[in-house]
Amino acid sequence: MSVNVHPVKPEWKAKGLIDNDTYLAWYKRSVEDPEGFWAEHGKRIDWIKPFSSVKNTNFNTPGVSIKWFEDGTLNVSANCIDRHLATRGDQVAILWEGDDPSEDRKITYRELSEQVNRLSNVMKANGVKKGDRVTIYMPMIPEAAYTMLACTRIGAIHSIVFGGFSPDALAGRIEDCGSDFVVTADEGLRGGKKVPLKANTDKAIEIAEKAGAKVRNVLVVRRTGGAVAMKDGRDIWYHEAMDAASADCPPAEMSAEDPLFILYTSGSTGKPKGVMHTTGGYLVYASMTHQYVFDYQDNEVYWCTADVGWVTGHSYIVYGPLANGATTLMFEGVPNYPSPSRFWDVVDKHDVSIFYTAPTAIRALMGAGDEHVTKTSRKSLRVLGSVGEPINPEAWEWYYKVVGEERCPIVDTWWQTETGGILITPLPGATDLKPGSATRPFFGVQPQLVDNDGNVLVGATEGNLCITDSWPGQMRTVYGDHERFEQTYFSTYHGKYFTGDGCRRDDDGYYWITGRVDDVINVSGHRMGTAEVESALVAHAKVSEAAVVGYPHDLKGQGIYCYVTLMEGEEPSDALRKELVAHVRSEIGPIASPDKIQFAPGLPKTRSGKIMRRILRKIAEDDFGALGDTSTLADPTVVDDLIDNRQNKK
Ligand code: WTA
Repeated sequence: MSVNVHPVKPEWKAKGLIDNDTYLAWYKRSVEDPEGFWAEHGKRIDWIKPFSSVKNTNFNTPGVSIKWFEDGTLNVSANCIDRHLATRGDQVAILWEGDDPSEDRKITYRELSEQVNRLSNVMKANGVKKGDRVTIYMPMIPEAAYTMLACTRIGAIHSIVFGGFSPDALAGRIEDCGSDFVVTADEGLRGGKKVPLKANTDKAIEIAEKAGAKVRNVLVVRRTGGAVAMKDGRDIWYHEAMDAASADCPPAEMSAEDPLFILYTSGSTGKPKGVMHTTGGYLVYASMTHQYVFDYQDNEVYWCTADVGWVTGHSYIVYGPLANGATTLMFEGVPNYPSPSRFWDVVDKHDVSIFYTAPTAIRALMGAGDEHVTKTSRKSLRVLGSVGEPINPEAWEWYYKVVGEERCPIVDTWWQTETGGILITPLPGATDLKPGSATRPFFGVQPQLVDNDGNVLVGATEGNLCITDSWPGQMRTVYGDHERFEQTYFSTYHGKYFTGDGCRRDDDGYYWITGRVDDVINVSGHRMGTAEVESALVAHAKVSEAAVVGYPHDLKGQGIYCYVTLMEGEEPSDALRKELVAHVRSEIGPIASPDKIQFAPGLPKTRSGKIMRRILRKIAEDDFGALGDTSTLADPTVVDDLIDNRQNKK
């Protein structure tokens, strides 16, 4: 495969915070002397009581334990707000762009301070205490960021649930972390369509309470003004409570290892797990990566198009940028509303310098035609970023040439909910770019490739991606289930963090992520466990068994392909297909909508009853010439029927 290398341009190097020599020197120090390196960079945030211990981590099972800066104390909201007030009180902190292009709001650091202080007092007055779990189910409005920051101010732990998730999914997350306080809005607004967030919350609480949960209060932001039911004694209007609250709430002194937030994410087995991040190390890592990866410089407008319901929104819309005193743009809408020029119109309207989005959006906009891009100016753009899934070189080149007019380096950032921040990435002033490669590790990150038996692979090679030592932003545990944490991440390859991703390393030591090697699929940059979709399908009365795999999809990266065996007496039909799609949407949410459903009288199983997914993946890809050995199947004839009825015939 020929690779079109784009060397660092002299002007990128001149402007950049880090050049290649600096990268190499810092990287070397970061892995040879992590204590010294992180002691120095740990000081980039404000501590109430400075740390004396830097790193105390163990990756060996049992007894995995990860602690950074553990005797230091701090407050995240003080770092994201208070410390900027003297120098940047009047600078815009959050630049909000509504779904409707005529709506925007500019919130200065001083205004942010007032809102967050009031909200902290509202939460306290309603019984939210240090260590309590607060569930946030909100649209992309500034109040979502206020709520996150108010939680950190009083030491409550937030758990954000993406507004596209169903009541069932929300209920499971409320229940799992025992959250008794929920913050939501009447309705969300995306692409001109309303999302019934409050009604979904009501349903979710009903489901959760049947399972034994108890929600004391629901705080409701008025976004659209749509009619919603308010339950007496439980539901509180945000605007009414805020008016009555004081604008002064001193920040709580938190230990570096106190929990900051929980964020549920999909794994290869079971229910989504509550990824838990803590306070000090996370903030150091989020702010440091935000500054150096995006080369953020004072007074620039920075825009990450993610939703705060995903980790990218946590680290790179809210915590990283605000800790750095940046102006962070928060967008309520979608890339193609009211037209496919929307992103670039917003870039021009607000003079955006740094723009960070996902390959799925880039591919969709590429498909809509260059004219939607070229009719806009985009002259403010300086750095472009990509995250969430591998970016194909065609999309990379289009982003580079058409969007960035070859002026802007692209940082293809590889990381995960679990990693808290970016681990493998170019730095704008330092790294020669190769389209499709996330390039080199960030400071302190030590990637390693291993084969399926755990043998370490050296040089140019391909294998399973592990990280051999800790970095400050790493997750600390699965909420309430430390054993699952050890099992999931540290037992496959003993003593190493296993990412679940496959990866190639080239002759220059560049990393090329090839995608998940477990049963997690990546649909439009959203992570999904095939097990979750399967359990939603088998919950349908007509389904007896289901197996779900991913297949290559031009726009989404991967599509969701479901093999479904019906109950005795049920007949396959297109109507039933539609019913099953609707069922999965209501169990999980629209992002989990199956793309293909194949009715299968039988699934390929080994004699011990294990479904052979390798075969199902091949058939879904329409690549059944290479099925390999099927003789170990309990009933090899099922394969012929699967092939005959495949849904992706080319
Ligand atoms: C994938 C999102 C290739 C990967 C921040 C990872 C990527 C999963 C990239 C994590 C990238 C993320 N190149 N693959 N630049 N970024 N991924 O937890 O498979 O939603 O394991 O975190 O997305 O998804 P998550």
